[in-house]
Amino acid sequence: MSRWEEFYESLPPPDGFDDAKQRLHEFCKRLGAKNKIVLVTSGGTTVPLEHNTVRFVDNFSAGTRGSASAEYFLSSGYAVIFIFRQKSLEPFARHFMGLKFLNMLEMAEENECLSIKVKGSHVEGLRPVLEQYQEAEGSGRLLQLPFTTLSDYLWLLRAASECLSSIGPRAMLYLAAAVSDFYVPTDKMPTHKMQSNEGPPSISLQLVPKMLKPLVNIWVPNAYVVSFKLETDAELLIKKSREALNKYNHKLVIANILQTRKYKVMFVFPNHDYEVNLNEDEIKKGIEIESKIVDDLAKKHELYIGGMV
Ligand code: PMT
Repeated sequence: MSRWEEFYESLPPPDGFDDAKQRLHEFCKRLGAKNKIVLVTSGGTTVPLEHNTVRFVDNFSAGTRGSASAEYFLSSGYAVIFIFRQKSLEPFARHFMGLKFLNMLEMAEENECLSIKVKGSHVEGLRPVLEQYQEAEGSGRLLQLPFTTLSDYLWLLRAASECLSSIGPRAMLYLAAAVSDFYVPTDKMPTHKMQSNEGPPSISLQLVPKMLKPLVNIWVPNAYVVSFKLETDAELLIKKSREALNKYNHKLVIANILQTRKYKVMFVFPNHDYEVNLNEDEIKKGIEIESKIVDDLAKKHELYIGGMV
């Protein structure tokens, strides 16, 4: 048995997994005959430190990349499976988060009847978001499935990949989630909350096998697979992206640096690379880099479907 198979053997599937699997099958069956389907993964995974989890290891990802990209894929005509970290940003809803949402509203009283309305200054901005959301809802082209832990994520990733294998090259995988490379094996985890009066805990994290390997080679071999590479040291970025391409044989790595990821990424292919970025004017206008990423990818994917790359 390979390391990744052993890894799955050691992790129980999450609650509700059968239901998620059924929704994935129904979605791919309904839309797969005629459409391109993209799997977008988004947000960070948690790694529990106790079975009855009070504490866990987490990461910075807010889900901006994934949720914004999902919207642009929908407007480019894709059906979208959006696997996201619970409570991270979601397509469409991301425009209405927290106080930003409350600031868009105002109260009005007419004939002793109180109503709450969107402020006039926000109506034009909200209209396209609402229209796109209603279109996605009406056409059933968006399936959202949440995860929290690394284990939840990995079970969903494999189930979604296996469903997508039935549509061959029309499937794209856009793996933007920030997935933990380390975990605490189930048999090394305490059952109950770690007690501070027992002194500092000694936690030994183990390496998680890279799931890109079975994903590209076994689960969904004909799909257009795009992985992401996040680094904080710019010197390593291209080198590590190329290493990943050589190792896993997928199509493209989108490489980004933590601090500049919102306005600059590198598209890294086996034999060439180029930058996709926003200029100052585009940043001022509120253009999102994901619109450019998705635009470029949709064209590459079309060529791939046509057997031209
Ligand atoms: O959500 P935001 O705040 O907008 O941030 C977006 C982002 C920076 C998270 C996103 O753009 C990004 O770079 N995501 C990938 C981050 C990451 O996990 O990089 P990595 O170098 O650790 O992993 C590289 C690839 O290997 C990833 O595509 C991942 O899906 C894959 N992987 C990771 C771990 C693992 N055990 N198996 C894997 O296959």
